[in-house]
Amino acid sequence: MKKWFAVIGNPISHSLSPYMHETWLKENNIDASYIPIHVEEGKLGDAVKALKLLGCSGWNVTVPYKNEIIPFLDEIDDSAKGIGAVNTVVKTEDNRFVGYNTDGLGFIQSLGPIPTDNQILFLGAGGAARGIAHALKQSGFRNIFIANRTRANAEQLVNDLQMGQAIDLQEAEERLYEFDIVIQTTPQGMKNQENTLPIQLHKIKEHAIVADIVYNPLVTPFLEEANKYNVRTINGLGMLVHQGAIAFSYWNGIKPNSDKMVERLTEQLGGNYVNR
Ligand code: ATR
Repeated sequence: MKKWFAVIGNPISHSLSPYMHETWLKENNIDASYIPIHVEEGKLGDAVKALKLLGCSGWNVTVPYKNEIIPFLDEIDDSAKGIGAVNTVVKTEDNRFVGYNTDGLGFIQSLGPIPTDNQILFLGAGGAARGIAHALKQSGFRNIFIANRTRANAEQLVNDLQMGQAIDLQEAEERLYEFDIVIQTTPQGMKNQENTLPIQLHKIKEHAIVADIVYNPLVTPFLEEANKYNVRTINGLGMLVHQGAIAFSYWNGIKPNSDKMVERLTEQLGGNYVNR
């Protein structure tokens, strides 16, 4: 039977994953398909049963099912356990379905090589921050600060991580020169969301990395502001592509070309913006 893969979510029609995976399948001469599946609210269990029954070889999981999928799987890898969220399901040779989370590692790979003693500041303490912070911990990073609008949520994340420090957004702004990497993980700056900046950047350290996990628009107001300083800015496309590339390699045993995909998607999303 021809292999097939999928991404499940709600909404799903704007997902870039089908384009990305279909392109990589073709590029690597793998005879398989990758399709988007819209799963109605309350129907996740039925959808998973159907995927298994119809011989799906593996699938991605996106909003809002990353947590809810867990009880329907046979096993959860450490990458997903700590975060409590799965974005990739792999079917093993003995027909077991194993959940992984490739989001955080995807983000780290999008940065390129970074010394593990770097000081890292998170803006936001939601699901995305949680995923990246766990992956950073697993990769040996220790100097992590979480600044969030609701301090209790930052403290909760630090507590779960058993690492790092929670600080206020105002304190983050004042101590900004201490951080080598600043990661913007709130939805601010996303299309149709508020356009205010989570913090001002005038105290940013020279040559710091300023990353935003949002990729629509490619240049968020936060990155636009960061580009006024002597820093390296990173948009959210790299994370999207690298999390997909890791999933692809779990399913197919081949590492696809991520750099070319970032270029392609940058072009498609209408930006001539290149990370510096
Ligand atoms: P996800 O879980 O996908 O990362 P989210 O739950 O929509 O995204 O939001 C995550 C983070 O963005 C949270 O830390 C949230 O702050 P609170 O804990 O105070 O809710 C933060 N956030 C969302 N909107 C924000 C805004 N307008 N200003 C500042 N922070 C915001």
